[in-house]
Amino acid sequence: MTSSAVTFSDSPGSLPVGSAVQAVRLTDEAVILLDQTALPQSVHYVSVDTVSEMVSAIQTMIVRGAPAIGVAGAYGLVLSARYHQKTLQDDMTAFKGALARDAHHLAMARPTAVNLQWAVDRLLKVIQSFEGPSVLELTQRVTAEANAIFEEDVAMCRAIGRHGAALVPQGARILTHCNAGALATAGYGTALGVVRAAFAKDASIQVYADETRPRLQGARLTTWEMVQEGIPVTLISDNMSAWLMKQGRVDLVIVGADRIAANGDVANKIGTYLLALAAKAHQVPFYVAAPSSTIDASLASGELIPIEERDGQEIGTIHEQAICPEGVQFYNPAFDVTPADLITGIITEHGVFEAPFQF
Ligand code: MRU
Repeated sequence: MTSSAVTFSDSPGSLPVGSAVQAVRLTDEAVILLDQTALPQSVHYVSVDTVSEMVSAIQTMIVRGAPAIGVAGAYGLVLSARYHQKTLQDDMTAFKGALARDAHHLAMARPTAVNLQWAVDRLLKVIQSFEGPSVLELTQRVTAEANAIFEEDVAMCRAIGRHGAALVPQGARILTHCNAGALATAGYGTALGVVRAAFAKDASIQVYADETRPRLQGARLTTWEMVQEGIPVTLISDNMSAWLMKQGRVDLVIVGADRIAANGDVANKIGTYLLALAAKAHQVPFYVAAPSSTIDASLASGELIPIEERDGQEIGTIHEQAICPEGVQFYNPAFDVTPADLITGIITEHGVFEAPFQF
């Protein structure tokens, strides 16, 4: 993996529709990722050249956010096809087998966001159903499908923005958690897509971003995106939201999702459940914004969603400085599940769903 620090205006390639932020991009040589671990201190791009580098970039959260890792996984499989076509051009069976193995590694990189498995499965269908003799042609088909996943994700985010903006009252103060913005998608964002669309109609809205310990996606990434676009944003620490709601300073909460079960239970960044409980207690509407690629109809309820557990050092350190004595034990689930009955509505590209959720 090679990296380069560039200024924002030096961003490689064309900028995405409607958003100056591009987290993932495919070139003829590699996949370019905006290094989300370096933000907001520096805008830094890494060039990912192999499947194992892509797996590592997903696991270390250089690229993160459910739809963005779906796109990254799809482009990882494009890298796989480009690599294997050089040596297996005369052996379609071996070529398909190599792609299937790489697909498995990519899909396993992070377990909770279903978008990753969904995107890889979509490409595997293209691979398995391909009947022609040409490895080169199959590589082109895989690339076209991966690009379609990218384009469709931006379109879904824009539609989510349109549907969601209709729910945002004049001058609303919107609380969001983690980062469900352009950085977490192919562009524009889900929860922040709603914010973007609402702000385009009403410049008096405001955003509260909570820090989102332990990885600080709210503090580092959501505020960065909002500042890029001139959308007023106030940073609060994770333990302040209930008090803000009690004071009547929050009109609605909008968050993203990593996986939505058939009954409307939502897995999202750890701390989402706490926010939903606080919102219910204070009669603050609580919305989830997500594309249909985040809905996992195969799971009846949120209890079945696999929850990623990450290294405890994410909790025990801040900027690599220990914040607790040695000998402490850690428990670091990266996501929690918010039960459907705490959710006012789920905003998808098809519209707003309310309980009882039937997608
Ligand atoms: O661990 P992360 O940063 O990948 O978690 C991201 C989230 O929880 C987002 O809210 C979710 O993926 C939705 S992104 C549109």
